[in-house]
Amino acid sequence: MLRIENLNAGYGDMPVLRNISLSIEQGSIVSVVGSNGAGKTTLLMAISGIIKSKGSIIFNDEAINGMAAHTIVQRGIVHVPEGRKIFPEMTVLENLMMGAFLQQKDYRQNLEKVFALFPKLSERKKQMGGTMSGGEQQMLAIGRGLMGNPKLLLLDEPSLGLSPLFTDVVFGAIHEIRKIGVTVLLVEQNVYQSLRISDKGYVIETGSIVLSGTGKELLDNQEVKKAFLGM
Ligand SMILES: Nc1ncnc2c1ncn2[C@@H]1O[C@H](COP(=O)(O)OP(=O)(O)O)[C@@H](O)[C@H]1O
Ligand SMILES: [Mg+2]
Repeated sequence: MLRIENLNAGYGDMPVLRNISLSIEQGSIVSVVGSNGAGKTTLLMAISGIIKSKGSIIFNDEAINGMAAHTIVQRGIVHVPEGRKIFPEMTVLENLMMGAFLQQKDYRQNLEKVFALFPKLSERKKQMGGTMSGGEQQMLAIGRGLMGNPKLLLLDEPSLGLSPLFTDVVFGAIHEIRKIGVTVLLVEQNVYQSLRISDKGYVIETGSIVLSGTGKELLDNQEVKKAFLGM
């Protein structure tokens, strides 16, 4: 579904991503794990067209690098940014509707999907986004992303700053999202939880992919254990 080859990207003259190659099969969960500053957010921004990149990004047989960000959204790639970025002065429902602006036609159906996934959002429809807890705001951010009816959902550190309880809720939801037919690219510092639910994983270090394998292979890998799992 998505194939990236020799991707290079950065900010101004500063290179960040170096020759990244990876691929994502339709219907799978793929995670890119690595420490703070490794280039995870930069990778997602390059895929969604927020920053420019060199190299090749092929989505469903079409080259998408160089396309405007809104065109990439129309192709079916929706990016849920790091730090949630919900609208605090809007209600839960209004926040969700902001995600539906390109999908007006199917919004009822998509809203039902989101409420089935996160019943709490349905109970809190009229509550202001800013008054929700961190975990609830993350559900809202993911829900808003799903309102765009994505084929591929990009999730940037959805568990960052969440309690263990909400972390479990979020990873459980990612599992459910795949079941409803949405392919997921997850970038995370929570290496254990991410790899546990992933079909395939990549380890990124200072802008390069240094290891890849199935989620299980990486969890069993000595270097991964030492660097990320404290074993
Ligand atoms: N807007 C920016 N301008 C310049 N450098 C940036 C910017 N955003 C991130 N960087 C740098 O790019 C590198 C990768 O950052 P980032 O992709 O945010 O990493 P991660 O998401 O893995 O924590 C870091 O060295 C960071 O300081
Ligand atoms: Mg980041």
